[in-house]
Amino acid sequence: MIGAAGDFHVTVTGLGAYAPERVVTNGELSELVDTSDEWIVERTGIRERRIAAETQALSDLALPAAEQALAQAGVEGKDVDLLIVATVTPDMLFPSTSALLADKLGATDAAAYDLSAGCTGFMYAIAQAYGMLAGGLAKRALVVGGDVLSRILDWSDRSTVVLFGDGAGAVMLEPSEDEGFLGFELGADGAGGASLWLPGSGSRVFESPERFVKMNGREVFKFATRVLVDSARAVLERCGASIDDVDVYVPHQANVRIIDHATKKLGIPSDRVVINVDRFGNTSSGSIPLALRDAQVDGRLRPGKLVLMTGMGAGLTWGSALMRWTQEVPA
Ligand code: ACO
Repeated sequence: MIGAAGDFHVTVTGLGAYAPERVVTNGELSELVDTSDEWIVERTGIRERRIAAETQALSDLALPAAEQALAQAGVEGKDVDLLIVATVTPDMLFPSTSALLADKLGATDAAAYDLSAGCTGFMYAIAQAYGMLAGGLAKRALVVGGDVLSRILDWSDRSTVVLFGDGAGAVMLEPSEDEGFLGFELGADGAGGASLWLPGSGSRVFESPERFVKMNGREVFKFATRVLVDSARAVLERCGASIDDVDVYVPHQANVRIIDHATKKLGIPSDRVVINVDRFGNTSSGSIPLALRDAQVDGRLRPGKLVLMTGMGAGLTWGSALMRWTQEVPA
């Protein structure tokens, strides 16, 4: 699916992020599984990640991120009329985490639902919120992306446990006089689904359900390096922009090697690339909003800047958005 925005503009008016306090270093992981700081840094670029406390579910991570996004936008919970939470680790399958979050935020008038598109969930959710706002169905949409992947990892499996972390981010989307979102490109390839999956997590019956993430790392690596490049090029072309126009590139934070590959192939100078996977690992749907928040904090997200985001993940899925940033740097 690909499309460029029309005359009706939608933009980000508030941004928030939250990661749990507990830092788990590579050194700590090497006490649990047969790995080392050297291996993890060399193969992934990850140095540490945040892991949720036992008492924290996704809605507990989403709440502070959502409150920060609302505060930046100057919007109260009661004025939100659409709330989407993109996740593969909701508090529980039902009620949805978005319904629980709407209650915590006082968003009593909001349509609230969860969206599942693996690590691409946040990209799908902002595209969907954009469509709802542009179609006149909603006026103020809060989109949250977040995951507590630590709950679905096999902590004795070195091939997955070193990669992931917990975190959430949120954006407030509203109609705007200025440009904001310029276009989206989204896709899915179910044939590749078995490369990254969670057996025993739904209605399919397995003989010995394990309920832990299973991944063919090499296949996902190949897929990721391909779609990060193809999807970015597709959305740029559809919007009549070139790679040289991009001021801030926010790729999904899975692995520094994947990001470096895409950055080189696309020809984006490294000082325009946002990287925080070293501090957070792969936070799935939290990855892109956490990276956006870092870029906001370091002053890179300023009005007029052209921002390219691309996510990819389980499904297999991918999604890009191109936007002209309009929000002032918050005080
Ligand atoms: N520590 C030490 N050794 C390890 C570890 C580890 N944590 N994990 C694997 N190894 C070993 C392997 O067993 C293998 O040993 P062998 O050669 O004796 O068989 C060796 O290291 C090399 O393994 P490879 O799988 O070839 O290593 P590679 O360089 O491909 O890196 C990695 C593995 C990091 C998983 C890489 O393939 C990758 O990043 N893939 C993409 C993963 C990803 O991004 N997943 C999520 C994307 S979607 C989403 O966000 C949910």
